[in-house]
Amino acid sequence: MKKVVLAYSGGLDTSCAVRWLKERYHCEVICFSAFLGEVQDKNKLRKRALAAGAKKVYIEDSKPEFSKDFILPALWAHARYEGKYPLATAIGRPLIAKNLVKIAAKEGADSVAHGCTGKGNDQVRIEVGVRTLNPKLKIIAPLRVWEFRTREQEMEYAKERNIPIAVTKKSPYSIDKNIWGVSIEAGVLEDPWREPPQDAYVMTRPYEKAPGKPRYLEIGFEKGIPVKINGIRKNLVQLIESLNQIAGTYGVGRFDQIENRLVGIKSREIYEAPAAEVLLRAHQELEGMVMDREFMHYKEVLSHRYAELIYYGLWFSPLKKALDAFFKSNQHRVTGTVRIKLERGHATCVGRKSPYSLYSEKLATYSEGDIFNRDMAEGFIKLWGLPYEGMGAES
Ligand code: ARG
Repeated sequence: MKKVVLAYSGGLDTSCAVRWLKERYHCEVICFSAFLGEVQDKNKLRKRALAAGAKKVYIEDSKPEFSKDFILPALWAHARYEGKYPLATAIGRPLIAKNLVKIAAKEGADSVAHGCTGKGNDQVRIEVGVRTLNPKLKIIAPLRVWEFRTREQEMEYAKERNIPIAVTKKSPYSIDKNIWGVSIEAGVLEDPWREPPQDAYVMTRPYEKAPGKPRYLEIGFEKGIPVKINGIRKNLVQLIESLNQIAGTYGVGRFDQIENRLVGIKSREIYEAPAAEVLLRAHQELEGMVMDREFMHYKEVLSHRYAELIYYGLWFSPLKKALDAFFKSNQHRVTGTVRIKLERGHATCVGRKSPYSLYSEKLATYSEGDIFNRDMAEGFIKLWGLPYEGMGAES
């Protein structure tokens, strides 16, 4: 091993990993950091990586790439794992894998490394992602192999070697945050019976502290892409960030979930995804207005499968790619506006309109002006039920 590209967050684990990789493999370490949520001070981060022993540091504001190439496909697919979690963490990992591979090629590196633990899904997502894109790269997961068993041991190692570590107070939780949502686990959350304490939440206000007055938002979509809030045009990153802020104030998008991890464990995690919750709902509602029944029902099945693939780390797989083509195929019709009402903890759709609407008031109405031909219903019902006549009497 000569040169390794490390996915570097600036925290204790990856700071120790820089030095540990150098000492253990006598290799050059190149650090890569991607901002998918909060933008950190680039200079500070670079300095910290260099002081830990990095030869070179890449720092990328990846939010535009993240929103366009990762969030949008997940939104179009209506992707949620096990019915709730909108997969914020899971869609961030393939972005990291892709960039590790790209930088490795540019730098002529033979290996990549990451700071994921050995119990979670994220190690799978990064490693399978990297191997799908470039099977020649060697992958090292320092946290799975190194000698440190506790945080204190890592701190000691860092101190001995003058590795600067951020002096932020260690949260009692493990948190992964980006603009599509935040995942929070560990600490008292490991007791599945215990209600998550308020201090565990980082993006949303408690329902009780949400404004008493509801607020309406009009989300404008063009070809499946959310482009406006209340008539004001925004790019995707701005739009998501402002929805996180607004809907977060209303306590929208909180989930408390026991989930089935890929590595076999059941885990309890809480999620906050205010913008994702609003946009998934709005997109789904609009699509419901412009698409036919068969498409919609079949999409539900595929959506479920898609979420599994994403969760399982198969972002770059052929099936995922094919499903993306399916979900993209009708987005040209998903143009229009959805009215969302925010109330304590809820985002409800209360109105929708589209130039591609398939809804016909004249057909639907129970009042004056009805054009639906009831006479045809009788024949239709007879033929529809024909294959089943008598079948229920058998047993
Ligand atoms: N369980 C989620 C997933 O597998 C999130 C994992 C990371 N969570 C965290 N708190 N660091 O996608």
